[in-house]
Parts: sequence; C-alpha cells; structure tokens
Amino acid sequence: MANFNRRSFMKASMATAALGVAAACSQQGVKPTGAAPAAKGKSVMGLVVPAMAEVRVGLIGVGERGVGYISHFSQIEGARITAICDTDPQTLQRARGLFDKMAKPQPAYFGDSPDSYHQLLARQDVDIVVIATPWALHHPMAKAAMLAGKHAFVEVPMALELEQMWDLVDTAEATQRNCMMLENVCYGRDELMVLNMVRQGLFGELLHGEAAYIHELRWQIKEIERKTGSWRTFEEARQNGNLYPTHGLGPVAQYMGINRGDRFDFLNSVSSPAIGRAEYAKREFPADHPRNQIKYTCGDINTSIIKTVQGRTIMLQHDTTTPRPYSRHNLIQGTNGVFAGFPNRIALETGGRGGSYHEWDMDMTPWYQQYDHPLWQRMGREAERNGGHGGMDFLMCWRLIYCLRNAEPLDQDVYDGAAWSAVLPLSVASVADRGNSRDFPDFTRGLWQKTKPLGIVGG
Ligand SMILES: NC(=O)c1ccc[n+]([C@@H]2O[C@H](COP(=O)([O-])OP(=O)(O)OC[C@H]3O[C@@H](n4cnc5c(N)ncnc54)[C@H](O)[C@@H]3O)[C@@H](O)[C@H]2O)c1
Repeated sequence: MANFNRRSFMKASMATAALGVAAACSQQGVKPTGAAPAAKGKSVMGLVVPAMAEVRVGLIGVGERGVGYISHFSQIEGARITAICDTDPQTLQRARGLFDKMAKPQPAYFGDSPDSYHQLLARQDVDIVVIATPWALHHPMAKAAMLAGKHAFVEVPMALELEQMWDLVDTAEATQRNCMMLENVCYGRDELMVLNMVRQGLFGELLHGEAAYIHELRWQIKEIERKTGSWRTFEEARQNGNLYPTHGLGPVAQYMGINRGDRFDFLNSVSSPAIGRAEYAKREFPADHPRNQIKYTCGDINTSIIKTVQGRTIMLQHDTTTPRPYSRHNLIQGTNGVFAGFPNRIALETGGRGGSYHEWDMDMTPWYQQYDHPLWQRMGREAERNGGHGGMDFLMCWRLIYCLRNAEPLDQDVYDGAAWSAVLPLSVASVADRGNSRDFPDFTRGLWQKTKPLGIVGG
C-alpha cells in the first residue's frame, strides 16, 4: 500500500511538473533554456592551437567599430590584414584610404553581396576572422568562419539566441577552432588592475558584483542609411530586456571565475517603462518620419540580478536611453572590502591606506603603482598611444595575436562568450514573465567545476 501510494504520488508529481514546464514555455516571450545538447566534439576549454609565425587577419565589417581593427592589427608585429569584406562601398573606400595613409599593402576586398564574406573565408591566406557586423550576423558568420577552418573573433554580443550560442559552442568543439567574443573591456587598465587585486585576495572572499552598460545612445537613431543606428534602432525596438550585457559583465565574470570554479545559475530581470526613445524621436523628427512610426519596446532601464552556483550575486543594468553620465558600475564586493568604478574608489577593512572603510579612498595613483596588471605594465603606454577606448582595444588585439603566436590559450573562450551573451535572451524571457527566474545553460557541460580561474598573465 505504501509503495502504491508513493508510486501514484510520484506519477502525479511528474505529470504536474511536466504540465508546469509546458505552461511556463508557452507563456508569452518565454523560450525554453534547453538542456545541454549532445556534444559534437571535444571541449575547447583551454584550447591551444599550433603557434603561428604570422597571423593573417580577415576583417568582416569595417564600419564604426571594425575600422579601428584596421589600425590596431596594422600596428602589431606578427599580424597582417590580408582580406576585408564589407557590403558598403563607401566604408570599403574608407578602408582603402587608411592602407594608403599607413603606406601598407592593400588587402583583398569583397562585398558585392551579403554573402560575399564566404569568398573571404575561402582564402588560404586568412587564419583568423574578426567579425564586426550587426548583431544578427554574428552567429552565421562566426559559424561559417570555423567551418572554413578559421578562428573566429566576434564582436559583442556573441549571438542573440540560446540556440545560436549552443551552435557556436558545438561548432567550436567539432572543428577545434577558437571562437572568442571580443570583450575589450576585460583589457581596460582598471578592470585588469581589479582582476590582479582579486587574485591577490585584497577583497577577501567575493560576495557580490555590479555591472552595467549605461551609455546614452539615443542620437544613434539619427543614423538612417548607414552606421550603428541604421540597424541597432530596430534591435532596441524588437525586444525588452538587457540588449547589451557583456561590457560590464565580462570583467566581473572574470573576477568571480565564472566558468572556472563558479557558474551563472539563474537570473531575474525587470524593465522600467519605455518612454525616452519615443519622446526623443518626437522631439527630433517630424511627426510623419519613419523613426516616429517605430514602437520602442525596450524598457529605458533594465535591471537583472544573477545568482551564481557558488551563491554570489551580480546586479546588472542596461540603459542606452536616459540622459545621465556613462557607467559600467564595475563593482566587486568581498568580505574585506569593495572596489567600485565610475568614478574609481576603494574601501577596505584591512590593507587600506589609513582611512576607514566607512569612507571611499578616491586616490587611485598608489593603487595603480602597486597593482597595475603585468599586461598593462608591459603594454599600457603603447596601448594608450594606439588608442581605442583608452587603449583596451589595442591591448585586446595585441594579446590575442600574442597568444596565437606563442601557442597559449586565449583569455576568453566560446563558453565565456556564450554565458555572458546569454543574459540577452534570458532577460527578455524573464521580463516577459514578471521577472521570474530563468536558468543559464551550462555551456561548459560541467567542466567549469574542474577549470582554474583565469591567471594573471604577463604576456
Ligand atoms: N566592443 C566595443 O566596444 C564595440 C563598440 C561599438 C560596436 N561594437 C559592436 O561592433 C559591431 C558593429 O557595430 P558598428 O557600430 O561598427 O556598426 P556599423 O553599422 O557601423 O558597422 C557594421 C558594418 O557591417 C557591414 N555589413 C553589414 N552586413 C554585412 C555583410 N553581410 N557582409 C559584410 N559586411 C556587412 C556594414 O556595411 C557596416 O560597415 C556590433 O556588434 C556592435 O555591438 C562593439
């Protein structure tokens, strides 16, 4: 009788649970996060590829972002740009002009059709492909690059949907190629210094982080024919959530050793009303302008909370609409104290510079002297000279070329790109479901438990 009751109870519970899952998945805007699909190859965690004497670079997309890669890779010893693809003739013309100005040999150019990038991928003189195109093209282009035998370096976010992220993980594993998302902020001087501080135990045991992309970009909707606003405006209108999570989150994830000893478990996300963009369009365009026909659905301020498997929390915000100063928050709190960015400040219980932890120490000079990351100590001056968000862009390019030429694993892998980008679809699903939680997939398929946190590298 006892057995019968237990069996009946379990059957009933399983049926109820199945109904619950079906109901949850059928809620508006809620997509199933999906269990890990069967792996199609060996893990690429810590992938090392044979050292390349010279790294031959193909660039796809040399618009507002990609144009910077022309000058960065042209300045790095051991790197050579051999091919460029962009569908905009004016943008290709600008690229040609830059090579003339630098007195460097012209690469091969492509861009007659949206599929021309396949011609670039077919070339034998391309080892790595750097993709700086609109978001929706990241997944197909990165996948095609790996299938063509190239290593893919793709702008943020790595992809838009969880299925696409799994697909890039699976393709990287099947082809044993790198697929690195180009999260340049991980190479900022402050972020590298904080990583160094964290690894030296300055903050004690880590408890909580805060990250953001707060950057007023309403003006981009005036870009109609070309440039970022010509496509990003429609992304801002398409869905409601955190559309651009990785700049603030990447460094905090590295401090916490996400995918290397810890892992994002779930998130909850809520959005404020979406008012600012419609108001801006009304103010800046005639009433019958196409920009006034768009329904701007993304909430002006999105706030998510991520819980990690080790129990830590991360507060993450997205706001490209409201009039306020730029911030990525960049806050890390441990049992011994806290660092916060924008503006930089630090408060410690022990190991501080005399003051109490009730007050911020705002003078960063001595902290830089003591804790500047070895990479920044070696390359910081050159990085600042070459520019790109205070040098972080150049340093990222320099570092990835260094790793490829010295047979070292890259600092960010396909699992990082997937986990950090997953906030986008998960936040959209959570917002549509009254902020109820959504689980992160484990893109590492369990390997996060065995992998060591990113080290402090000298380069
Ligand atoms: N990491 C950063 O700091 C940072 C900063 C800005 C932008 N970005 C990212 O860079 C990417 C590009 O943004 P952007 O501001 O340069 O946009 P953009 O519109 O200025 O540039 C995109 C380029 O892609 C080209 N393109 C479009 N379809 C193509 C195709 N099928 N084949 C080849 N080229 C094609 C366009 O002609 C354009 O020149 C985005 O993913 C964005 O999120 C990153």
